[in-house]
Amino acid sequence: MDHAPPVSAYDAIATVYDPWSRSVTEDVEFYVALARDAGGPVVELGVGTGRIAIPTAAAGVRVIGVDSSEGMLAVCRAAAEAAGVAERLDLRVGDLRRPPVDERVSLVTCPFRAYLHLHDDGERLDALRAARELLLPGGLLAFDVFEPSVEDVEATHGRWLEREPEIFERADWDLESRTLTLSVRGPGGAATMALAWLAPEEWRDLLERAGFEVVAHYGWFDGRPYAGGEDSVWIARRPDPK
Ligand SMILES: C[S@@+](CC[C@H](N)C(=O)[O-])C[C@H]1O[C@@H](n2cnc3c(N)ncnc32)[C@H](O)[C@@H]1O
Repeated sequence: MDHAPPVSAYDAIATVYDPWSRSVTEDVEFYVALARDAGGPVVELGVGTGRIAIPTAAAGVRVIGVDSSEGMLAVCRAAAEAAGVAERLDLRVGDLRRPPVDERVSLVTCPFRAYLHLHDDGERLDALRAARELLLPGGLLAFDVFEPSVEDVEATHGRWLEREPEIFERADWDLESRTLTLSVRGPGGAATMALAWLAPEEWRDLLERAGFEVVAHYGWFDGRPYAGGEDSVWIARRPDPK
C-alpha cells in the first residue's frame, strides 16, 4: 500500500500554526472527553501540532497521530516532550486517505476542519472509508467541518486581516466551486492553501455511503443540535453487526 504523504503547505507555517490558532479552544474539551470515554488508543487524522492530541495524552489516553506535514509533526513532538506526554503520542507521517495505521481502535477523530483539505467526493469517500477501516465495530468517528455564511464571506473576502498580533490571514472565497483559498503569513513563514466545503446534508450522505451511521450532528462543541449555522460537528458509528 502507498503511504507516501502529499507535499504539505503546512510545512511552511508549522511554527506559525500555534500562535495563529491560539484563540481556537472551544473544541479541545469536546475531543478530549470523547477520547476519555473511548478509553484509548485514539487515532487523530490531521493531528497537526497536537493542539488536541497533547491535552488528550495529558488526560491519560494514548494517541496515534497521522499528518502529512513533517513540520507540523516536529512541532507536535517538541510540544509533547515539553508537556511530558511524549510516550503517549505515536506520531506518523502519512495521508489521512491512506493512514499508516494497522491498529483497530474505538475512536477516530479529525478535528478542526482537516477534511476540508479534500477536494472532491472521491477523496472524501476514500478518507471516510479509511477512517471506518480503522474502527472496531461500534467505534466512532468524530470530526468538524464548516460551510461559510454570506456574512462571513462578505466580511472577509479578499482582505488581509490581522488575526493575531503579526499574523495575517486572507480568505478568497469562490462560491461557485465552493473553495476557499486561505493565505496566512506570520513571523515564521507563509502559505496558501485551498479548502473545499460542502453543505451538511452532503456530509451526511457521504458518511452513509462510506458505511457509517450518523449518531450526532451538532452545531457547536457544546452539543447543541445543528440549526443552520456555519459549523457542523459530526459523530458517526461503524455499525456493529452483532
Ligand atoms: C487545520 S489543521 C488541524 C490540526 C489539528 N488537528 C488541530 O486541531 O489543530 C489540518 C491538519 O491536517 C493536515 N492534513 C491536511 N491534509 C492532510 C492529508 N491528506 N493527510 C494527512 N494530514 C493532512 C495538515 O498538515 C494539518 O496539520
